Amino acid sequence: MRAADIADQLSTVLVTEEQIHAKLDEIAARVAADYAGKDLLLIGVLKGAVMVMADFSRALPETVPMDWMAVSSYGAATKSSGVVQIRKDLDTDLHGKHVLIVEDIIDSGLTLSWLLENFASRGAESIEVFALLRKPDAAKVHVDCKYIGFDIPNEFVVGYGLDYAEGYRNLRDVAVLAPHVYS
Ligand code: XMP
Ligand code: MG
Repeated sequence: MRAADIADQLSTVLVTEEQIHAKLDEIAARVAADYAGKDLLLIGVLKGAVMVMADFSRALPETVPMDWMAVSSYGAATKSSGVVQIRKDLDTDLHGKHVLIVEDIIDSGLTLSWLLENFASRGAESIEVFALLRKPDAAKVHVDCKYIGFDIPNEFVVGYGLDYAEGYRNLRDVAVLAPHVYS
């Protein structure tokens, strides 16, 4: 798709690539200090967290293992169903690990609260969450999230890993998808 066509499908850029990278550096410095001397494991939630995991993990000063979980609660729709399906499980035993879940976005919070319960039952030493984006007005359940990149309005966003029907993930900024695309 050409750049002009893509621009027509977005209404507002909410977070730019530069803002994302500055924020990732800031959070990486906090995480490095908070987890000094600890057995840290990053767990990314596929597929949305691919970009944030790639850039965040490389902003950390030390090498760190990462694992991936694929869950699905949306299908091709733009609202969470709350029904979480595991599509790919972890490869790592969580016993004794300090887990940091790396998420693209907390919307209703349903996916993450389900993941937190699931991981808690696997013997992790600690579990915290880093979400690049959060929609405070969309929360259906409260989720304790230690590291937050940006609070954004309750609109469907795409880019930087976030998709609509698998499109737009490779946009560098986070933008609001124009309603005419999905309505
Ligand atoms: P919940 O509602 O369970 O969201 O907190 C879980 C997952 O849904 C995806 N999600 C979005 N994807 N634009 C997207 O492209 C959005 O605005 C959006 N809101 C939620 C995302 O993968 C999140 O982890
Ligand atoms: Mg997703």
